[in-house]
Amino acid sequence: MQDCAVRRPSVLVARAVFPEAVQRLRAHFDVEANEADEDWSADELMRRLQGKAGVLLTGTQRIDDALLRACPTLRIAANMTVGHNNFDIAAMDAHGVVGTNTPDVLTETTADFGFALLLAAARRVTESEHYLRVGGWTRWSYDLFAGAEVHGTTLGILGMGRIGQAIARRGAHGFGMRVFYHNRSRLDAAIEADCRATWVDKDTLLRESDHVVLVLPYTPQNHHIIGAAELARMKPTAVLVNLARGGIVDDAALAQALRDRRIAAAGLDVFEGEPAVHPGLLEVPNVVLTPHIASATLRTRRAMVDLAVDNLIAYLTEGRALTPVNHPRQPRP
Ligand code: DGY
Repeated sequence: MQDCAVRRPSVLVARAVFPEAVQRLRAHFDVEANEADEDWSADELMRRLQGKAGVLLTGTQRIDDALLRACPTLRIAANMTVGHNNFDIAAMDAHGVVGTNTPDVLTETTADFGFALLLAAARRVTESEHYLRVGGWTRWSYDLFAGAEVHGTTLGILGMGRIGQAIARRGAHGFGMRVFYHNRSRLDAAIEADCRATWVDKDTLLRESDHVVLVLPYTPQNHHIIGAAELARMKPTAVLVNLARGGIVDDAALAQALRDRRIAAAGLDVFEGEPAVHPGLLEVPNVVLTPHIASATLRTRRAMVDLAVDNLIAYLTEGRALTPVNHPRQPRP
């Protein structure tokens, strides 16, 4: 008897995600899911991708020429992150494979966390909590954990995409800050007015800002865009916050600058080579360290995975991705 059943596309979910998201995919596709959340090597990922048309990723698994050559059925890689530096876009274009990310849904949550890190580092929240927990607090004194002011100061934002703008609005409207930003291109006047933000060159931003927040994407051009020379230009009372990606800051140079009190403090959610953290950063007290959780509220993480699922469904059933980061000329059929 002839088999008339139409074969459903197969999809791989490369890391554990909310079970409901996997259920949604199962309504449309044959799904293999890494429910045990095993650490798959690049070779293992390639092996699991044989015969798969789509993959849901958490932003750390690299999609490059070698993988795309080895996985000829793959048509779409859907990140459940806004960052997509795990995609080799040139290779994906050449192989006709679409990549998608999750813009917008995490903007406000991530901007909140930018302020959480800025306030925690400036006001020495984690450092003073540790002191209290180990029994160091025996009496009050006038300068006990006196930190840096945040409200009414000057905020410098490097990278002024959606998250940068949301941080600017919080700074200007919520904390009465003067806001400087630096981006390759200036924003429209209407957006600048809404954010009450002024474009300045990078050196001015580093020199004049009381606090600097990094929210630019990682690209090879942005590698170590903050190193020893840039840290030396910042105010000794300044706080540096990195919400963007590891590799944008030279973590060894930052650890040294914090040890030397070249800047006052830092708040870091991302690290070079994470989950490893530069040992020098673990040794200094004037840094707040968090494990890449800026977008981690349950509601936002659900929205992120839902958008990744929506992208897989829309592309593999209707041929249109909702939030593509590339547009291959000849998409794989
Ligand atoms: C993103 O979406 O790129 C975040 O860094 C992941 O939480």
